[in-house]
Parts: sequence; C-alpha cells; structure tokens
Amino acid sequence: RGASFHRAMEEKMPPTGVPHFVGKKEELIEAKRSFRTLEGRDILIIHHQSVFYAVDSYCYHAGGQLQNGDIEEIAGKLCIICPNHKYKISLAEGEGLYKARDPTEEKPVRRWYSKGVKQRIHTVTESNGDVYVMLSQCSNWIESDFFQGEKGKVERAKA
Ligand code: FES
Repeated sequence: RGASFHRAMEEKMPPTGVPHFVGKKEELIEAKRSFRTLEGRDILIIHHQSVFYAVDSYCYHAGGQLQNGDIEEIAGKLCIICPNHKYKISLAEGEGLYKARDPTEEKPVRRWYSKGVKQRIHTVTESNGDVYVMLSQCSNWIESDFFQGEKGKVERAKA
C-alpha cells in the first residue's frame, strides 16, 4: 500500500471509546435493523433472536449495503448474507464464511471455512432501556474499514 494510504489512515481519528446512545431498546427491537452514523462511521444495529449486534454497514467485499441482508445460522454461527453477492458474515465476530472442498481429503465434501475477521463489529450495551454502541477499538486493519473511508465511499457507490 502506498504512502497516500498510510497518510489517510493516520489522519483518521482513532475511535474515542465512548459509548454512544443509539436509541431506546423497544424502538430498536421494533425496527430490527437501524442505521446510525457514529464518529463518522456508518453502523448497522441489528436485533435478532433477543440479541443486539452492531456491524459496519457496508460489506467488506465490495461495499454492499448489509441493511437488507437475510440472517441465517451457518455452521453454528448467525450470519448476515450480503444481498449483493451473498457473502456470509458472522454477526458476533465479523468472520467471512465460505464453503469449499478440501482437495487433500480422500472424499472431499463441501464444508464451511472461515476467512477470519473481515467485517468490523462494535460493542452494544444496554442500560435502563437505553442502548449504546461503542466503536471497535481494534487497531488492526479490517477489510470493511475500506468502505468507511473516502476512497471506499466512491467504490461502494458502484456496488
Ligand atoms: Fe457484499 Fe459483494 S457480497 S458486496
């Protein structure tokens, strides 16, 4: 990656670590999916099977909008499926899951594998019926970060 990329990363302010009020619990449950912008980052808050999740709003693959993605359990993990090209992303960890055969097996069968964490996941907390989201403070580059930056904004508009 070039110098301009590193400059852009340095200029981006690190997350503050402050929990942001994102709504009343009942409202967010009713809405099921809620879009919020926190510290300049676009986040999707999901309520599914009595649990809240907060994920980067744009798919790590090509910036697709996850807001209307179906949710399914895959290999024991709840995943959102990007409507664009059907990539599967686990809601709890942001792992990219894919199905493949291992050619080294005697009788290869298709199984689910993880590509590791690809989508940034944020922390949701509740207090007295209010819901808060604190942005992930993991300083590693995670692929969905790209679509939160200026360059990524242009790319995701095409997705
Ligand atoms: Fe999400 Fe391609 S699968 S943009």
